Amino acid sequence: MNSRDTAASRRQLLKWLAASPLLAFPGLAGLAAQTSPRVPQARPDPMIWAPGDLQDLITTPADAINVFDFEPVARKNVPPAHFGYMASGIDDEVTLRANREGFLKFQLRPRRLVDVSKVDMSTNILGVRYDTPIVVAPIGGHRAYHSGGEEAVARAAKVGNHLMILSTQSTTSPEAVIAARGAPIWYQLYATNKWDVTKAFLARAERAGCLAVAVTVDRNGGRNQETLFRLQRTDTRNCSACHDRGNLEANYRTRPMYEGVDLSGLSNIQSSALTWETIKRIRDTTRMKVVIKGILAHEDAELAVKAGVDGIVVSNHGARSEDSGRSTIDALPEIVERVGGRMPILIDSGFRRGTDIAKALCMGATAVCVGRPYIWGLGAFGQPGVERVLDLLRTELFATMQQVGAPSIKNLVPAMVRRA
Ligand code: FNR
Repeated sequence: MNSRDTAASRRQLLKWLAASPLLAFPGLAGLAAQTSPRVPQARPDPMIWAPGDLQDLITTPADAINVFDFEPVARKNVPPAHFGYMASGIDDEVTLRANREGFLKFQLRPRRLVDVSKVDMSTNILGVRYDTPIVVAPIGGHRAYHSGGEEAVARAAKVGNHLMILSTQSTTSPEAVIAARGAPIWYQLYATNKWDVTKAFLARAERAGCLAVAVTVDRNGGRNQETLFRLQRTDTRNCSACHDRGNLEANYRTRPMYEGVDLSGLSNIQSSALTWETIKRIRDTTRMKVVIKGILAHEDAELAVKAGVDGIVVSNHGARSEDSGRSTIDALPEIVERVGGRMPILIDSGFRRGTDIAKALCMGATAVCVGRPYIWGLGAFGQPGVERVLDLLRTELFATMQQVGAPSIKNLVPAMVRRA
Protein backbone atom coordinates (compact mmCIF):
# COMPACT_ATOMS: atom_id res chain seq x y z
CA MET A 1 0.00 0.00 0.00
CA ASN A 2 1.47 3.40 -0.92
CA SER A 3 1.36 6.44 1.37
CA ARG A 4 -1.64 7.96 -0.44
CA ASP A 5 -3.66 4.74 0.07
CA THR A 6 -2.62 4.63 3.73
CA ALA A 7 -3.76 8.23 4.29
CA ALA A 8 -7.10 7.51 2.55
CA SER A 9 -7.75 4.42 4.72
CA ARG A 10 -6.84 6.39 7.83
CA ARG A 11 -9.32 9.13 6.86
CA GLN A 12 -12.03 6.51 6.23
CA LEU A 13 -11.41 4.93 9.61
CA LEU A 14 -11.49 8.27 11.42
CA LYS A 15 -14.73 9.27 9.63
CA TRP A 16 -16.30 5.95 10.56
CA LEU A 17 -15.20 6.34 14.18
CA ALA A 18 -16.48 9.91 14.31
CA ALA A 19 -19.89 8.79 13.02
CA SER A 20 -20.05 5.74 15.30
CA PRO A 21 -22.42 6.12 18.30
CA LEU A 22 -20.19 3.63 20.17
CA LEU A 23 -17.16 5.81 19.96
CA ALA A 24 -18.67 9.26 19.87
CA PHE A 25 -16.32 11.68 21.50
CA PRO A 26 -15.61 15.27 20.45
CA GLY A 27 -12.52 15.93 18.45
CA LEU A 28 -12.57 12.95 16.12
CA ALA A 29 -14.44 14.79 13.37
CA GLY A 30 -11.90 17.56 13.63
CA LEU A 31 -9.08 15.05 13.40
CA ALA A 32 -10.65 13.54 10.27
CA ALA A 33 -10.90 17.01 8.72
CA GLN A 34 -7.25 17.67 9.57
CA THR A 35 -6.15 14.64 7.58
CA SER A 36 -8.02 15.74 4.40
CA PRO A 37 -5.71 16.69 1.55
CA ARG A 38 -4.35 20.20 2.06
CA VAL A 39 -5.58 22.78 -0.43
CA PRO A 40 -2.80 25.26 -1.25
CA GLN A 41 -3.86 28.72 -0.07
CA ALA A 42 -1.60 30.72 -2.32
CA ARG A 43 -0.93 30.28 -6.03
CA PRO A 44 2.03 27.89 -5.99
CA ASP A 45 5.32 28.70 -7.54
CA PRO A 46 5.85 26.40 -10.56
CA MET A 47 8.92 24.87 -8.88
CA ILE A 48 6.61 23.21 -6.32
CA TRP A 49 5.51 20.78 -9.02
CA ALA A 50 9.01 19.99 -10.26
CA PRO A 51 10.59 16.86 -8.79
CA GLY A 52 12.08 17.65 -5.42
CA ASP A 53 13.85 14.38 -4.69
CA LEU A 54 17.23 13.86 -6.26
CA GLN A 55 16.25 10.37 -7.44
CA ASP A 56 13.20 11.84 -9.23
CA LEU A 57 15.19 14.31 -11.33
CA ILE A 58 14.95 13.98 -15.09
CA THR A 59 17.79 11.92 -16.49
CA THR A 60 17.52 12.94 -20.14
CA PRO A 61 16.48 16.21 -21.79
CA ALA A 62 13.61 14.39 -23.51
CA ASP A 63 12.05 13.67 -20.09
CA ALA A 64 11.57 17.37 -19.38
CA ILE A 65 7.97 18.52 -19.30
CA ASN A 66 8.82 22.19 -18.90
CA VAL A 67 11.94 24.32 -18.57
CA PHE A 68 11.77 24.25 -14.76
CA ASP A 69 12.63 20.53 -14.81
CA PHE A 70 16.23 21.41 -15.71
CA GLU A 71 16.97 23.67 -12.76
CA PRO A 72 17.31 21.02 -10.01
CA VAL A 73 19.51 18.90 -12.31
CA ALA A 74 21.76 21.91 -12.90
CA ARG A 75 21.79 22.51 -9.13
CA LYS A 76 23.10 18.97 -8.66
CA ASN A 77 25.76 19.22 -11.40
CA VAL A 78 27.07 22.77 -11.10
CA PRO A 79 29.42 23.92 -8.29
CA PRO A 80 27.40 25.71 -5.58
CA ALA A 81 29.12 29.08 -6.06
CA HIS A 82 28.45 29.03 -9.82
CA PHE A 83 24.86 27.91 -9.35
CA GLY A 84 24.40 30.60 -6.68
CA TYR A 85 25.77 33.27 -9.02
CA MET A 86 23.30 32.22 -11.71
CA ALA A 87 20.26 31.91 -9.45
CA SER A 88 20.82 35.01 -7.37
CA GLY A 89 18.71 38.13 -7.37
CA ILE A 90 19.41 41.16 -5.16
CA ASP A 91 18.62 41.74 -1.46
CA ASP A 92 15.16 40.30 -0.72
CA GLU A 93 14.76 39.11 -4.34
CA VAL A 94 11.44 40.93 -4.61
CA THR A 95 12.10 41.71 -8.28
CA LEU A 96 13.06 38.10 -8.97
CA ARG A 97 9.59 37.01 -7.83
CA ALA A 98 7.92 40.03 -9.46
CA ASN A 99 9.35 39.01 -12.83
CA ARG A 100 7.33 35.80 -12.64
CA GLU A 101 4.26 37.18 -10.88
CA GLY A 102 4.02 40.04 -13.35
CA PHE A 103 2.66 37.67 -15.99
CA LEU A 104 -0.37 36.94 -13.80
CA LYS A 105 -1.43 40.57 -14.12
CA PHE A 106 -2.01 40.06 -17.82
CA GLN A 107 -4.42 37.53 -19.23
CA LEU A 108 -4.80 36.15 -22.71
CA ARG A 109 -7.99 36.97 -24.60
CA PRO A 110 -8.11 34.32 -27.35
CA ARG A 111 -9.97 34.61 -30.65
CA ARG A 112 -11.70 31.58 -32.18
CA LEU A 113 -12.48 30.22 -35.62
CA VAL A 114 -9.21 31.33 -37.14
CA ASP A 115 -7.35 28.73 -39.25
CA VAL A 116 -4.22 28.00 -37.25
CA SER A 117 -3.45 24.65 -38.85
CA LYS A 118 -0.23 26.33 -39.99
CA VAL A 119 1.67 28.66 -37.67
CA ASP A 120 4.62 30.78 -38.75
CA MET A 121 6.73 31.98 -35.81
CA SER A 122 9.34 33.68 -38.00
CA THR A 123 10.37 37.15 -36.90
CA ASN A 124 12.40 39.97 -38.36
CA ILE A 125 14.84 41.51 -35.91
CA LEU A 126 16.84 44.48 -37.23
CA GLY A 127 16.43 43.33 -40.82
CA VAL A 128 17.30 39.67 -40.27
CA ARG A 129 14.76 36.85 -40.39
CA TYR A 130 14.80 34.26 -37.59
CA ASP A 131 12.54 31.21 -37.28
CA THR A 132 11.44 32.35 -33.84
CA PRO A 133 11.18 35.52 -31.72
CA ILE A 134 12.93 33.70 -28.85
CA VAL A 135 16.43 35.10 -28.35
CA VAL A 136 19.34 33.69 -26.33
CA ALA A 137 20.16 36.43 -23.78
CA PRO A 138 23.79 37.35 -23.03
CA ILE A 139 25.07 35.50 -19.98
CA GLY A 140 28.70 35.60 -18.90
CA GLY A 141 30.96 32.59 -18.43
CA HIS A 142 29.05 29.60 -19.87
CA ARG A 143 31.96 27.30 -19.04
CA ALA A 144 31.15 27.83 -15.36
CA TYR A 145 28.09 25.65 -15.99
CA HIS A 146 29.36 23.10 -18.52
CA SER A 147 32.63 22.49 -20.36
CA GLY A 148 30.78 22.87 -23.69
CA GLY A 149 30.37 26.56 -22.85
CA GLU A 150 29.19 29.15 -25.36
CA GLU A 151 29.85 26.86 -28.34
CA ALA A 152 27.37 24.30 -26.99
CA VAL A 153 24.80 27.07 -26.57
CA ALA A 154 25.50 28.41 -30.07
CA ARG A 155 25.03 24.97 -31.63
CA ALA A 156 21.74 24.58 -29.76
CA ALA A 157 20.64 28.04 -30.94
CA LYS A 158 21.47 27.02 -34.50
CA VAL A 159 19.02 24.10 -34.35
CA GLY A 160 16.04 26.45 -33.95
CA ASN A 161 17.64 29.40 -35.79
CA HIS A 162 17.60 31.64 -32.71
CA LEU A 163 19.37 34.97 -32.48
CA MET A 164 22.15 34.69 -29.88
CA ILE A 165 23.67 37.59 -27.96
CA LEU A 166 27.19 36.98 -26.66
CA SER A 167 28.33 38.49 -23.36
CA THR A 168 31.51 40.52 -22.96
CA GLN A 169 32.27 38.06 -20.15
CA SER A 170 32.12 35.09 -22.51
CA THR A 171 34.50 32.20 -21.89
CA THR A 172 34.70 31.61 -25.67
CA SER A 173 35.83 33.99 -28.39
CA PRO A 174 33.19 35.66 -30.59
CA GLU A 175 34.87 34.11 -33.65
CA ALA A 176 34.43 30.57 -32.31
CA VAL A 177 30.84 31.26 -31.23
CA ILE A 178 29.89 32.64 -34.65
CA ALA A 179 31.45 29.54 -36.24
CA ALA A 180 29.43 27.28 -33.93
CA ARG A 181 26.21 29.25 -34.49
CA GLY A 182 26.87 29.23 -38.25
CA ALA A 183 25.50 32.77 -38.55
CA PRO A 184 26.20 36.24 -37.22
CA ILE A 185 25.29 36.99 -33.61
CA TRP A 186 24.97 40.16 -31.51
CA TYR A 187 27.62 41.26 -29.07
CA GLN A 188 26.74 42.51 -25.58
CA LEU A 189 28.99 45.31 -24.36
CA TYR A 190 29.97 46.22 -20.85
CA ALA A 191 31.47 49.62 -21.51
CA THR A 192 34.23 49.92 -18.95
CA ASN A 193 35.52 53.10 -17.37
CA LYS A 194 38.38 53.09 -19.91
CA TRP A 195 37.34 54.14 -23.41
CA ASP A 196 40.28 52.38 -25.11
CA VAL A 197 39.09 49.05 -23.69
CA THR A 198 35.54 49.73 -24.87
CA LYS A 199 36.86 50.69 -28.32
CA ALA A 200 38.91 47.48 -28.50
CA PHE A 201 35.83 45.36 -27.62
CA LEU A 202 33.77 47.10 -30.30
CA ALA A 203 36.48 46.64 -32.93
CA ARG A 204 36.88 42.94 -32.07
CA ALA A 205 33.14 42.24 -32.17
CA GLU A 206 32.73 44.08 -35.45
CA ARG A 207 35.70 42.28 -37.01
CA ALA A 208 34.31 38.94 -35.85
CA GLY A 209 31.09 39.70 -37.75
CA CYS A 210 28.61 40.68 -35.01
CA LEU A 211 25.58 42.46 -36.43
CA ALA A 212 24.71 44.60 -33.45
CA VAL A 213 26.06 45.68 -30.09
CA ALA A 214 23.72 45.55 -27.12
CA VAL A 215 25.08 48.09 -24.66
CA THR A 216 24.14 47.09 -21.12
CA VAL A 217 23.30 50.20 -19.12
CA ASP A 218 21.84 48.75 -15.93
CA ARG A 219 24.95 47.63 -14.06
CA ASN A 220 26.23 50.88 -12.64
CA GLY A 221 26.31 50.13 -8.93
CA GLY A 222 27.26 47.48 -6.41
CA ARG A 223 24.94 44.60 -5.70
CA ASN A 224 24.05 42.40 -2.77
CA GLN A 225 23.63 38.93 -4.27
CA GLU A 226 22.59 37.12 -1.11
CA THR A 227 21.82 33.75 -2.71
CA LEU A 228 25.27 33.77 -4.27
CA PHE A 229 26.98 34.62 -0.99
CA ARG A 230 25.12 31.93 0.93
CA LEU A 231 25.82 29.18 -1.61
CA GLN A 232 29.42 30.36 -2.05
CA ARG A 233 30.01 29.57 1.64
CA THR A 234 29.05 25.94 1.01
CA ASP A 235 31.52 25.59 -1.88
CA THR A 236 34.62 23.80 -0.64
CA ARG A 237 36.64 23.99 -3.88
CA ASN A 238 39.77 26.07 -4.22
CA CYS A 239 38.51 28.95 -6.39
CA SER A 240 41.85 30.72 -6.68
CA ALA A 241 42.89 28.40 -9.52
CA CYS A 242 40.38 30.20 -11.77
CA HIS A 243 39.61 33.50 -10.00
CA ASP A 244 42.29 35.97 -9.00
CA ARG A 245 40.17 38.24 -6.81
CA GLY A 246 43.08 40.43 -5.76
CA ASN A 247 43.82 41.67 -9.25
CA LEU A 248 41.21 42.64 -11.83
CA GLU A 249 43.66 42.44 -14.71
CA ALA A 250 44.76 38.90 -13.85
CA ASN A 251 41.19 37.84 -13.18
CA TYR A 252 39.95 38.78 -16.65
CA ARG A 253 43.08 38.05 -18.63
CA THR A 254 41.76 34.56 -19.43
CA ARG A 255 38.48 35.87 -20.92
CA PRO A 256 38.77 35.94 -24.73
CA MET A 257 37.35 39.45 -25.18
CA TYR A 258 40.19 40.83 -23.03
CA GLU A 259 42.96 39.14 -25.05
CA GLY A 260 45.53 41.64 -26.26
CA VAL A 261 43.71 44.58 -24.65
CA ASP A 262 45.65 46.92 -22.37
CA LEU A 263 43.77 46.62 -19.08
CA SER A 264 46.03 48.90 -17.07
CA GLY A 265 44.04 51.53 -15.21
CA LEU A 266 40.87 49.51 -15.46
CA SER A 267 39.14 49.68 -12.07
CA ASN A 268 35.89 48.00 -13.00
CA ILE A 269 34.71 45.82 -15.86
CA GLN A 270 31.47 47.77 -15.81
CA SER A 271 31.06 51.51 -15.46
CA SER A 272 29.26 53.92 -13.16
CA ALA A 273 29.91 56.80 -15.52
CA LEU A 274 27.84 55.87 -18.59
CA THR A 275 25.75 58.68 -20.05
CA TRP A 276 23.91 59.38 -23.32
CA GLU A 277 27.22 60.88 -24.43
CA THR A 278 28.76 57.37 -24.14
CA ILE A 279 26.00 56.00 -26.37
CA LYS A 280 26.70 58.69 -28.96
CA ARG A 281 30.40 57.87 -28.82
CA ILE A 282 29.69 54.15 -29.30
CA ARG A 283 27.35 54.90 -32.20
CA ASP A 284 30.02 57.07 -33.83
CA THR A 285 32.69 54.39 -33.33
CA THR A 286 31.07 51.25 -34.72
CA ARG A 287 29.26 50.22 -37.86
CA MET A 288 27.32 47.60 -35.86
CA LYS A 289 23.72 48.44 -35.05
CA VAL A 290 23.39 49.83 -31.51
CA VAL A 291 20.81 48.51 -29.04
CA ILE A 292 20.47 49.64 -25.42
CA LYS A 293 19.84 46.85 -22.91
CA GLY A 294 18.29 47.68 -19.55
CA ILE A 295 15.60 50.32 -20.25
CA LEU A 296 12.69 50.40 -17.78
CA ALA A 297 11.16 53.88 -18.07
CA HIS A 298 9.39 55.58 -20.98
CA GLU A 299 11.53 58.71 -20.52
CA ASP A 300 14.67 56.68 -21.30
CA ALA A 301 12.95 54.96 -24.22
CA GLU A 302 12.23 58.39 -25.70
CA LEU A 303 15.85 59.47 -25.15
CA ALA A 304 16.97 56.26 -26.88
CA VAL A 305 14.87 57.13 -29.93
CA LYS A 306 16.33 60.65 -29.88
CA ALA A 307 19.86 59.22 -29.59
CA GLY A 308 19.20 57.41 -32.87
CA VAL A 309 19.84 53.90 -31.54
CA ASP A 310 18.44 50.95 -33.45
CA GLY A 311 16.52 49.28 -30.62
CA ILE A 312 16.17 48.69 -26.89
CA VAL A 313 15.87 45.74 -24.56
CA VAL A 314 13.38 46.25 -21.73
CA SER A 315 15.27 44.41 -19.01
CA ASN A 316 15.97 44.42 -15.28
CA HIS A 317 18.93 42.11 -15.91
CA GLY A 318 16.94 39.11 -14.65
CA ALA A 319 16.42 40.93 -11.32
CA ARG A 320 20.20 41.22 -10.86
CA SER A 321 20.59 45.01 -10.80
CA GLU A 322 18.42 46.88 -8.27
CA ASP A 323 15.72 45.16 -6.24
CA SER A 324 13.08 47.51 -7.64
CA GLY A 325 10.07 45.25 -7.23
CA ARG A 326 8.83 45.92 -10.76
CA SER A 327 8.64 43.26 -13.42
CA THR A 328 9.59 44.02 -17.01
CA ILE A 329 6.18 42.93 -18.34
CA ASP A 330 4.76 45.69 -16.10
CA ALA A 331 7.17 48.22 -17.57
CA LEU A 332 6.50 47.23 -21.18
CA PRO A 333 3.19 49.08 -21.87
CA GLU A 334 4.47 52.58 -21.04
CA ILE A 335 7.54 51.99 -23.20
CA VAL A 336 5.62 50.59 -26.17
CA GLU A 337 3.23 53.52 -26.01
CA ARG A 338 6.01 56.10 -25.95
CA VAL A 339 8.14 54.46 -28.65
CA GLY A 340 5.14 54.23 -30.97
CA GLY A 341 6.80 51.81 -33.37
CA ARG A 342 9.86 54.01 -34.00
CA MET A 343 12.29 51.19 -33.11
CA PRO A 344 12.12 47.51 -32.18
CA ILE A 345 11.65 46.67 -28.51
CA LEU A 346 13.06 43.44 -27.13
CA ILE A 347 12.29 42.33 -23.59
CA ASP A 348 13.68 39.87 -21.03
CA SER A 349 13.62 38.87 -17.34
CA GLY A 350 11.51 36.04 -16.01
CA PHE A 351 10.24 34.57 -19.30
CA ARG A 352 9.72 30.82 -18.79
CA ARG A 353 6.55 29.92 -20.71
CA GLY A 354 5.18 30.22 -24.23
CA THR A 355 2.30 32.21 -22.79
CA ASP A 356 4.74 34.71 -21.18
CA ILE A 357 6.36 35.21 -24.57
CA ALA A 358 3.03 35.50 -26.41
CA LYS A 359 1.80 38.14 -23.93
CA ALA A 360 4.87 40.34 -24.50
CA LEU A 361 4.58 39.98 -28.28
CA CYS A 362 0.87 40.88 -28.15
CA MET A 363 1.74 43.92 -26.06
CA GLY A 364 4.18 45.21 -28.66
CA ALA A 365 7.55 43.53 -28.11
CA THR A 366 9.41 42.42 -31.24
CA ALA A 367 11.26 39.56 -29.56
CA VAL A 368 11.86 38.01 -26.14
CA CYS A 369 15.26 37.11 -24.68
CA VAL A 370 15.57 34.18 -22.32
CA GLY A 371 18.39 33.87 -19.78
CA ARG A 372 18.53 31.40 -16.89
CA PRO A 373 16.45 28.60 -18.47
CA TYR A 374 19.05 27.84 -21.12
CA ILE A 375 21.75 27.89 -18.45
CA TRP A 376 19.71 25.32 -16.50
CA GLY A 377 19.68 23.20 -19.67
CA LEU A 378 23.42 23.71 -20.17
CA GLY A 379 24.30 22.88 -16.56
CA ALA A 380 22.05 19.82 -16.63
CA PHE A 381 22.99 18.18 -19.95
CA GLY A 382 25.21 20.47 -22.04
CA GLN A 383 24.12 21.20 -25.61
CA PRO A 384 21.20 18.69 -25.67
CA GLY A 385 19.83 20.37 -22.54
CA VAL A 386 19.93 23.82 -24.15
CA GLU A 387 18.34 22.39 -27.31
CA ARG A 388 15.48 20.92 -25.30
CA VAL A 389 14.91 24.14 -23.31
CA LEU A 390 14.64 26.14 -26.53
CA ASP A 391 12.49 23.41 -28.09
CA LEU A 392 10.07 23.50 -25.13
CA LEU A 393 9.77 27.28 -25.36
CA ARG A 394 9.12 27.11 -29.12
CA THR A 395 6.57 24.32 -28.65
CA GLU A 396 4.72 26.25 -25.95
CA LEU A 397 4.73 29.47 -28.02
CA PHE A 398 3.47 27.56 -31.06
CA ALA A 399 0.61 26.06 -29.03
CA THR A 400 -0.25 29.45 -27.52
CA MET A 401 -0.37 31.06 -30.96
CA GLN A 402 -2.77 28.35 -32.10
CA GLN A 403 -4.90 28.78 -29.01
CA VAL A 404 -5.24 32.57 -29.28
CA GLY A 405 -5.88 32.36 -33.02
CA ALA A 406 -2.64 33.86 -34.35
CA PRO A 407 -1.21 32.08 -37.41
CA SER A 408 1.77 34.46 -37.49
CA ILE A 409 3.62 36.79 -35.13
CA LYS A 410 1.95 39.87 -36.64
CA ASN A 411 -1.42 38.38 -35.64
CA LEU A 412 -0.43 38.60 -31.96
CA VAL A 413 -2.16 41.92 -31.26
CA PRO A 414 -2.85 44.04 -28.13
CA ALA A 415 -6.54 42.99 -28.04
CA MET A 416 -5.39 39.45 -27.23
CA VAL A 417 -4.20 40.58 -23.78
CA ARG A 418 -6.12 42.28 -21.02
CA ARG A 419 -5.03 43.49 -17.59
CA ALA A 420 -6.31 41.14 -14.89
C1 FNR B 1 23.16 37.67 -16.84
N1 FNR B 1 22.81 38.79 -17.61
C2 FNR B 1 23.79 39.46 -18.29
N2 FNR B 1 23.47 40.54 -19.03
C3 FNR B 1 24.41 41.21 -19.73
O1 FNR B 1 24.09 42.18 -20.39
N3 FNR B 1 25.71 40.76 -19.73
C4 FNR B 1 26.11 39.69 -19.00
O2 FNR B 1 27.27 39.31 -19.02
C5 FNR B 1 25.14 39.02 -18.23
N4 FNR B 1 25.48 37.96 -17.45
C6 FNR B 1 24.51 37.27 -16.75
C7 FNR B 1 24.88 36.19 -15.98
C8 FNR B 1 23.89 35.45 -15.35
C9 FNR B 1 24.30 34.27 -14.56
C10 FNR B 1 22.53 35.81 -15.47
C11 FNR B 1 21.45 35.00 -14.84
C12 FNR B 1 22.17 36.92 -16.20
C13 FNR B 1 21.40 39.19 -17.75
C14 FNR B 1 20.76 38.50 -18.95
O3 FNR B 1 21.25 39.01 -20.16
C15 FNR B 1 19.24 38.70 -18.97
O4 FNR B 1 18.94 40.06 -18.88
C16 FNR B 1 18.54 37.93 -17.85
O5 FNR B 1 19.16 36.70 -17.62
C17 FNR B 1 17.09 37.70 -18.22
O6 FNR B 1 16.38 37.20 -17.13
P1 FNR B 1 16.10 35.65 -16.87
O7 FNR B 1 15.55 35.07 -18.15
O8 FNR B 1 17.38 35.03 -16.46
O9 FNR B 1 15.09 35.70 -15.77
